[in-house]
Amino acid sequence: MPSVEAEPLLQVNDLAVHFPIKQGLLLDRTVGYVYAVDGVSLEVRRGETYGLVGESGCGKSTLGKAIVRLVRPTAGSVVFDGADVAPLKGEALRTRRRRFQMVFQDPLSSLDPRQSVEAMLTEGMRAHGLPDGSARLRELVAAVGLPPSALRRYPHEFSGGQRQRIGIARALSVEPDLIVADEPVSALDVSVQAQVLNLLGTLQDELRLTYLVIAHDLAVVRHVSDRIGVMYLGGLVEEAPSQALYDDPQHPYTRALLSAVPVPDPELEDRRERILLTGDLPSPAAPPQGCRFHTRCPWRQPQRCDDERPQLRVIEGAPAGHRVACHFAEGIRDGVIKPHSVEPVVVGELSAHGTVPDLPGSVTEILGR
Ligand SMILES: Nc1ncnc2c1ncn2[C@@H]1O[C@H](COP(=O)(O)OP(=O)(O)OP(=O)(O)O)[C@@H](O)[C@H]1O
Ligand code: SF4
Ligand SMILES: [Mg+2]
Repeated sequence: MPSVEAEPLLQVNDLAVHFPIKQGLLLDRTVGYVYAVDGVSLEVRRGETYGLVGESGCGKSTLGKAIVRLVRPTAGSVVFDGADVAPLKGEALRTRRRRFQMVFQDPLSSLDPRQSVEAMLTEGMRAHGLPDGSARLRELVAAVGLPPSALRRYPHEFSGGQRQRIGIARALSVEPDLIVADEPVSALDVSVQAQVLNLLGTLQDELRLTYLVIAHDLAVVRHVSDRIGVMYLGGLVEEAPSQALYDDPQHPYTRALLSAVPVPDPELEDRRERILLTGDLPSPAAPPQGCRFHTRCPWRQPQRCDDERPQLRVIEGAPAGHRVACHFAEGIRDGVIKPHSVEPVVVGELSAHGTVPDLPGSVTEILGR
């Protein structure tokens, strides 16, 4: 794990991505915006893995795409290795993009079915003037655990896990510093998930890569990340070193997410309380005023929670790297403010709880960490 003082490779400052909602016959009228990402600030240090977790639709992929500039930010900056890439266009962007690559969730739809693996790999290398000889191609497929014969084959000839390896090889082909991996294993079987996650870890050590790993699955993020950011409706609500986030979650949303995860110790499991979230996830086209989480928060306090959006801050008595966006985090932690609804766990209901991602315990077991 890189030291806390390691230099940041990526600094995201107050980043926003608002998608216009168009209406009219020619879709010429903007009638509102989807606030997919709305004021996110974070840093990723050289050599670390930053995990981003949150419910479907909270803006994880949009944030990842804005970082690698596949979508243009509405506001804010994305400082990569000292230079802001948010305003870049054309050739300047293309050149810079070699250094940050994305691995996509669905390996099949992100690979061109008409291109052989060799054509896919050489395309990026040529575009960036990198050597693309056969020795380098064989080295790339070997690095992701595929035989040289894979170079002549097409995406449909591979299994899901192998395709994801090809997606990783394609990202590696241009020798990036940062890889944004958007749900890199969610389309794969659990046993294959562990293999691909282990591969990402090995490559990181060998090639000194920095990762931003996006996942809705808490187990995946936990086992690969040095630090974790939790997103809710376009914003970061908590950020902490991986272990601290799981051992001592501070934001009500993170507490609720983790309260749904079964624990292996039967005694602790018996005493585990489940925090129930009421209400549906609001639409990112009409996010609540004040704290975005106030419509579902069991600790909501009038009137501040409804009116004032909390900033991500280090709360009193917490280690420096643990930041929380909640006005009342200290009172909640110390038990001074009580939740309105906490229920004992009802076994068998966990996976049916729509707001909480499932935890496939077998990934944990296979990774053995
Ligand atoms: N190109 C786009 N145009 C308009 N709205 C978009 C666009 N891309 C994403 N959105 C909207 O932005 C919001 C955030 O989407 P995003 O894909 O970033 O979420 P996510 O956290 O990655 O979700 P998931 O876990 O399902 O992948 C959603 O409401 C989505 O519908
Ligand atoms: S600021 Fe208020 S509504 Fe938001 S998480 Fe904290 S207690 Fe809940
Ligand atoms: Mg997504």
